[in-house]
Amino acid sequence: MFGNFTYHNPTRLHFGKDALAQLPQELARYGKNVLLVYGGGSIKKNGIYEQVCAMLQAAGKSVAEDAGVMPNPTLDKLREGAQRARECNADLILSVGGGSCCDYSKAVSASAWCEGDPWERFYKRYEEPTEKTIPVGCVLTMVGTGSEMNGGAVITNTATKEKIGKVFGSAMFPHFSIMNPEFTYTLPKNQMVAGFFDIMSHILEQYFSGTDDNTSDYLMEGLLRSLIHSGRIAVKNPQDYEARSNIMWIATWALNTLVAKGKSTDWMVHMIGQAIGGATDATHGMTLAAVSIPYYRHILPHGLAKFRRYAINVWDVNPDGKTDEQIANEGLERMAAWMREIGVVMNARELGVTEDMLPTIAKNTIILTGGYKTLTADEVIAIIRESMK
Ligand code: NZQ
Ligand code: ZN
Repeated sequence: MFGNFTYHNPTRLHFGKDALAQLPQELARYGKNVLLVYGGGSIKKNGIYEQVCAMLQAAGKSVAEDAGVMPNPTLDKLREGAQRARECNADLILSVGGGSCCDYSKAVSASAWCEGDPWERFYKRYEEPTEKTIPVGCVLTMVGTGSEMNGGAVITNTATKEKIGKVFGSAMFPHFSIMNPEFTYTLPKNQMVAGFFDIMSHILEQYFSGTDDNTSDYLMEGLLRSLIHSGRIAVKNPQDYEARSNIMWIATWALNTLVAKGKSTDWMVHMIGQAIGGATDATHGMTLAAVSIPYYRHILPHGLAKFRRYAINVWDVNPDGKTDEQIANEGLERMAAWMREIGVVMNARELGVTEDMLPTIAKNTIILTGGYKTLTADEVIAIIRESMK
């Protein structure tokens, strides 16, 4: 049934080759103190750091740096960042990087002035911040997460091996995001394609649920078709501006909360993927790629009509003379072939998963109930074992 909802997305987007030219007008909206957040150094190699620093200087900002945000940002790093944001009394947190930097910046924003332990409050009890928070702006350099226009802020607790995604409300979305597809050209191929699969997974998590006729499902089929097409082009020619632009824009719409409105969602691939990430620190998109086909084969009998529709509308499977099961399975075969074509990891062993990790991964997999089948811990293990064959 079409559910009730409020839709509000406050993020301003600047998109295109000249998008960074909009940064000065954005900076003018905030106070003097800027916390500049970035990762392991890619922005220094590709020149984005220099351009951003020149703009910060020209705007007369007082800049404190918080570098070294790792892929899968950790709780220890978050505590460090919160302290730095407090010390410099940040008026703006400017994230220059991928989803990890942007997620981390949101978490720092909520944690800097938080009373009590941020992990307990935001990641165990899923509270919204009630104290002062700091506006976040983003210059995006890696495409996939949708973090540039949502409230997601995934943090890994290395002590407990838990990787948990807090989804903040719209007050915590980035105030603005700058999206130049050319900034993503320097991504290594494995990161680029991990991002492509992350996008696909975000869409499928919201598509494979419900039995109603919902406009969002039609939107998602369109996004998926464009992703499959542009993904093929970008893998052959990573500097194809049109393909990279399409993919950047699909990523944003895949997870800026629009397509989830009015419908149930699944998210179990992400729950398993995050638990694998917590145990292995593997690249997010690859953790999803490793478990998706085994997971979807497992739940297919429980959502047969939707898998049939997916095969026909997204993968152009010809239904003539075939049973619903045959059609649905052919759709998943085509999806697996596309995954092999773009080159994502499809075996969990390649991510470092070993048999002895499985009980912890199963324990740390949060079980959600919005999809076609509610999994047990044993089923989680069986799905990962299937991926390890
Ligand atoms: O750290 P640097 O040196 O910048 O290198 C990064 C990093 O090693 C590199 N990179 C980024 N842009 C580059 C570049 N290298 C060369 N050229 C560029 N232009 O790429 C590596 C990966 O970056 P990262 O930010 O970690 O990737 P991604 O954007 O995939 O973010 C992953 C994080 O986002 C979370 C994931 O769990 C993970 O922690 N997610 C956030 C979501 C959200 N906000 O809604 C949802 C997702 O499902 C996801 O869980
Ligand atoms: Zn994801």
